[in-house]
Amino acid sequence: VNLEGVEVMEIKVGERAGFCFGVDRAMDFALKEGKESKNSVHTLGPLIHNPQAVDKLKKADIKVIDQIDKVDDGTIIIRSHGVRPSIIEEAEDKDLDIINATCPFVQRVQEKAKQLYKDGYQVLISGDKDHPEVIGILGHTDNQAIVVEELSDCKEVKLKSKVGVVAQTTQSLNKLKKLVDYLLPQISDLKVHNTICTTTGQRQDEAARLAQDMDLMIVIGGYNSANTNRLAEICRENGAITHHIEQADELQVDWFSNIKKIGVTAGASTPNWIIKEVVSRMAEIKQDVEEKETTEESTTLTVGERVTGTIAQLTE
Ligand code: F3S
Repeated sequence: VNLEGVEVMEIKVGERAGFCFGVDRAMDFALKEGKESKNSVHTLGPLIHNPQAVDKLKKADIKVIDQIDKVDDGTIIIRSHGVRPSIIEEAEDKDLDIINATCPFVQRVQEKAKQLYKDGYQVLISGDKDHPEVIGILGHTDNQAIVVEELSDCKEVKLKSKVGVVAQTTQSLNKLKKLVDYLLPQISDLKVHNTICTTTGQRQDEAARLAQDMDLMIVIGGYNSANTNRLAEICRENGAITHHIEQADELQVDWFSNIKKIGVTAGASTPNWIIKEVVSRMAEIKQDVEEKETTEESTTLTVGERVTGTIAQLTE
């Protein structure tokens, strides 16, 4: 039986999938502090948007609080998303040890927004209203900036003649461009800081390229992770059947039948160990599905000759 022409399933994992610099750094800070500190250690909100990584921190005895007034002593870790300045002041007033793990790229957005506000610009933040990073940036403008999720958010307000734009680090370039295109013809003094993190852009570009080339994309990351949701969106826009999962046990065997090329990408808050688990589970599924499909395909390749059985039997 000639098996030539029977394609095997190919799995490609994006090189930029998983933890970004800022999240990796925050995780390191937290685990180190949890190990070394004799006092209690807290993070203000879950350190990253990934339930499995949050569990790992919990096991290292790092507690999550939602407000500074829930603690009276010990260490507070500010996550990579950053916070509004009043939170840091509150922690200082309470004499807490502060580990500020705000990603330097997020800090840059905060500073740009603050400067624009100081210089009298109407600040627009292109991003998601409820995202903690955006809430933190907003605080650097005394909560005076306007968060633009959709163009309609700024169409409804009377803008000043001086407008300054910054973007949430994980914003899509497309959305920022749309906002700038809308503002350009009508604002005489427009300053735009493209503060989208390059890591995000590179990961998104890679996901788009993979999706164009693959039949199926598996996107791994927390359901509450904005950047993971965006990756899934991009993969769909680029034509691949896309499944967003958090963990390996969510993979379903029937997703892989009649699929030849599978791409894998993961959000900035997805730990490497989860990506590895998913890929090895996929390798198992791939083997099962291939055995089944090769048997079926071999049967059709040998028209006129009845062939049944497993690959082992067929190649004997
Ligand atoms: Fe920082 Fe970019 Fe990650 S802003 S937290 S390195 S996505």
